[in-house]
Amino acid sequence: MRLTQSVHIHLKEVLKAGDSALDATAGNGHDSLHMAELIGPLGTLVAIDLQAKAIENTRNKLASKDYLERSKLLKGNHADVLKQLNGTFKAIVFNLGYRPGSDQKLITEVDSTIGALNEVPRLLAPNGILLVTTYRAHKGGLPESIAVEDWMRKQEQSDGWFVHKIEPNVIQSKTTHDNLPPILWVASPTLSIC
Ligand SMILES: C[S@@+](CC[C@H](N)C(=O)[O-])C[C@H]1O[C@@H](n2cnc3c(N)ncnc32)[C@H](O)[C@@H]1O
Repeated sequence: MRLTQSVHIHLKEVLKAGDSALDATAGNGHDSLHMAELIGPLGTLVAIDLQAKAIENTRNKLASKDYLERSKLLKGNHADVLKQLNGTFKAIVFNLGYRPGSDQKLITEVDSTIGALNEVPRLLAPNGILLVTTYRAHKGGLPESIAVEDWMRKQEQSDGWFVHKIEPNVIQSKTTHDNLPPILWVASPTLSIC
């Protein structure tokens, strides 16, 4: 199963009608659309992206299903935007790396990713779920992936979070930096989710 599908299955287990959900990397809007559907008309989706094109694509996707009323789209750096947010979210999603279909010049980076993740304990509901997908094959992806792993281990060891790492087995004759598979982190302050 692809990790993107696994993200959607976890979201379906946790998100209920009326919940609030946060997409910290809206991209082309696939995760936002799925969350907007699960939370229903009484729920609230906040979707953030640094790129105007990503916000536009996400807005179009949400509009195509009539989900704009339940959605707030914010253009900016998630490390800054999350600091301004209040309230709690039942699900927070980061899909790192670059926007599929883009020129791949704009990627998520260690400092802003960790800065944004540091806001998550304040914003995530105690029975909420954090899903972070990291990619290691593109330039800059491996150090970011290692920084996310360190962050997750700290949450597990110091704050007692449940943290689950999903790393697909890729059958290939030789593992090189270019074909390292992505990793999905599933984390929660109280829910033991595998
Ligand atoms: C892999 S894509 C996300 C895909 C998206 N989840 C989807 O369903 O289509 C990563 C996104 O992160 C965005 N991004 C990169 N750095 C960012 C930052 N500091 N703050 C917010 N978004 C950022 C990129 O513009 C890109 O659209």
